[in-house]
Amino acid sequence: ADEGMWLPLLVKRLNQADMQKKGLKLTAEEIYDVNNASLKDAVVQLGGFCTGEFVSGQGLLLTNHHCGYDAIQSHSTPQKNLLADGFYAANKGEELKNPGLFVDILVRMEDVTGKVLEGITPQTPEAERVATVQKRQREMAEAAKENGQYVAYVRDMFAGNEYYLFVYQRFGDVRLVGAPPESVGKFGGDTDNWMWPRHTADFSMFRVYADKNNKPTAGFQEGNQPYVPKKHLPVSLQGVAESDFAMVFGFPGRTQRFLPAAGLQLTLDQSNPARIKLRDTRLKIWKEDGDQDPALRLKYASKYANIANYWKYFIGQNEGMKRLKTVDQKTAEERTLMQWIAADAARGQQYGSVLNDINQAYATMRQYNLSSVYMNEAALGTEILTFASRLRPLYTLLKAESPDQAAIKKATDDLQEPTAEFFKDYSSSTDKKVFAALLQMYYNDVPKEQQPDIFQTVAKQYGGSMQKYADEVFGKSFLTSEAKTKQFLQKPTLQQLENDPAFKTINSLFTNYQQNIAPKMQAAQAGLGRANRLYVAAMREKNSQKVYSPDANSTIRLSYGTVRAYQGRDAVRYNYFTTAQGILEKEDATNPEFVVPKKQIELLRAKDYGRFADKDGTLHTAFITDNDITGGNSGSPVINGRGELIGLAFDGNWEAMTGDLAYDPELKRCINADIRYVLWCIEKLGGAKHIVDEMTIVNNGPNPS
Ligand code: ARG
Repeated sequence: ADEGMWLPLLVKRLNQADMQKKGLKLTAEEIYDVNNASLKDAVVQLGGFCTGEFVSGQGLLLTNHHCGYDAIQSHSTPQKNLLADGFYAANKGEELKNPGLFVDILVRMEDVTGKVLEGITPQTPEAERVATVQKRQREMAEAAKENGQYVAYVRDMFAGNEYYLFVYQRFGDVRLVGAPPESVGKFGGDTDNWMWPRHTADFSMFRVYADKNNKPTAGFQEGNQPYVPKKHLPVSLQGVAESDFAMVFGFPGRTQRFLPAAGLQLTLDQSNPARIKLRDTRLKIWKEDGDQDPALRLKYASKYANIANYWKYFIGQNEGMKRLKTVDQKTAEERTLMQWIAADAARGQQYGSVLNDINQAYATMRQYNLSSVYMNEAALGTEILTFASRLRPLYTLLKAESPDQAAIKKATDDLQEPTAEFFKDYSSSTDKKVFAALLQMYYNDVPKEQQPDIFQTVAKQYGGSMQKYADEVFGKSFLTSEAKTKQFLQKPTLQQLENDPAFKTINSLFTNYQQNIAPKMQAAQAGLGRANRLYVAAMREKNSQKVYSPDANSTIRLSYGTVRAYQGRDAVRYNYFTTAQGILEKEDATNPEFVVPKKQIELLRAKDYGRFADKDGTLHTAFITDNDITGGNSGSPVINGRGELIGLAFDGNWEAMTGDLAYDPELKRCINADIRYVLWCIEKLGGAKHIVDEMTIVNNGPNPS
């Protein structure tokens, strides 16, 4: 189908005829309506990073396994390993609470562009514009919160050409209901990640709880009851055929489809190679230590999966950019745009300098970009330094001339939970290796004049060896030990904190960044803010017949398309679905990524598919559609033309890894778990029929197409 992650509020503006031609039977009101239950009420943002959907009237939520991964791991120990063995609560009393996890349910959204930009003209000085806009965004969000009843924010779209208000209810009592074993829910591991064909049952289940009045609570509360959603999705046993209509509803995180050629170039030749190299190093250390010690592997499982996911993403993105010549394409597009601008005097006046401004900003950013990347991926890629950075507010308080004791008490109280959380999954011996390796790379790779003071100490006192420096830091820092950290928090002193070598290191890194790097980057970005806005405005004006969708920015979107095969490369055509046969073909007891549980092998060999079999007699595991999605859509419902759940979106394909930067309709596919395979895993493999029974299972004949 077409490019586009659309704002559901504007579904009426979409090409209804095209949607109906593809098979949509729902009205615009059935998709998005503020006053009556509509599809949007069944879709939630999970934890700010994923999507989930209600599949029962008792708050039962389906999402991806990789979205629930951290929660599942947090409940796992080598003795009681939910990650490895899977878990299904036998009843509501067995569901597991997850402090900190929440879901946001959209109450309403509103186009507030007119209000945000009122009185602002092209002549308004940029700094004034930015200040006014930010102030109005804050005030509007504040008003919409209605005294803390809602979570609200105003997000910009089209690089600041439009603004939308989003109002949510936030539910903080979200309990784990079930998940398959990791070997099923993450089948194929990092080898299959970002690739088709796929055989992963990438699902997990949670339940949202509310108070007696069905209202949100900030966290777990005794006496809370299952939330009764305004709408939950019926689940279809029909299965999909090629060309069936498919709609994906969810919370895509970030795309940069308007990123200029200079930005693409910087990503391609500087940011991505550095990220890949730094993550590669970190992952190797974690893997080596994990292979020696299964308990450590379990502790690091979720961190590892997160870092590995985008490590492979950056690799694929760079490969794709080279193969598809993304930079050249964008350069050509920019040239055409500049010709169009030059062809008209008024346009020249308004947009004439846009490309120059963009390129100038990127020239500055290119000088400082490595510092940024290494700050994020090397310094903050070291766990002890990230943890130490959390003590900086406390440091500021302790340093004050007359320290505010109440504020200090509050700051230390607030650090209790993060401290417990940090040490739960921490190994200082592993982290020490990461520290030495990543900071050495920082020291070697980042321009010398941009480096923090502390590195001069390393040069002078440790001969430039981060290994030796690591001995000092990890030998002396109290931040390597939970007991010592708690002791410090009991009675924090400035002296102890500022002399701690781990804290000293992060403090030096941050101070350097704030004083020497951030001002330059911010100046460049301020110029870029205006230039990007004008660039996007010019593009839309030039191609006025095309309806653009705004870049993803973690706000609710829908995309529509069809079930569709693709040609991966010359002579390679991929089918649009996979079957359980492929699990048995990939099965490899000697490779942890492709282990299949014994019970699953038996059931599949016996072709025991029950009511979840396809018409063709096989068990379909996954299928692809041409919906436009990105990270954050993970867990999104794939809905047929009647509004029934047919799958769970969980990945994108290797051939289109540049999708977040440029959309290719021939190559880009959305990879979905077939909902029947999900149900099979719960009921047949997991023996948890009671959970399936909670859902509204339907079989209404072929999907509209
Ligand atoms: N690539 C998927 C996404 O970002 C995540 C898949 C998780 N699975 C894995 N093997 N790491 O949505």
